[in-house]
Amino acid sequence: MIGRINHIAIVVPDLDGAAAHWRDMLGAAVSAPKTIAEHGVRVAFVRSANGQVELMEPYGENSPIAGFLKRHPDGGMHHICYEVSSIDDARVHLEAKGARVLGDGKVKTGAHGNPVLFLHPKDFNGTLIELEQIAAGGAN
Ligand code: CO
Repeated sequence: MIGRINHIAIVVPDLDGAAAHWRDMLGAAVSAPKTIAEHGVRVAFVRSANGQVELMEPYGENSPIAGFLKRHPDGGMHHICYEVSSIDDARVHLEAKGARVLGDGKVKTGAHGNPVLFLHPKDFNGTLIELEQIAAGGAN
């Protein structure tokens, strides 16, 4: 069912500092930071040939990653995002198998404008899994 890894998301306490660190230490190409206010995050992407790391910093009062940063003040891995061709097929399959979709169980529009859902970490060895629908030939 799952396709490529689209991104691995890491929460950081200081996005600009982290972006510079990954660029300078690892020689990585890092995108300019951007604010996604409606998702409560500022993000920058560390590009590589076969996927990307998304560095995320909380933004605003009710950021969904503020609690994570409190528990992990130095930052840490937050989720893995796999691409799927049909988010609705994936949801039906997973719910039939007993996996828990976070929130109200409905598909949302993710930070990249594509349909996404998140699966409960307790169902996947302590790891939050994001599924993102990528239109055929439309990988971003
Ligand atoms: Co993500």
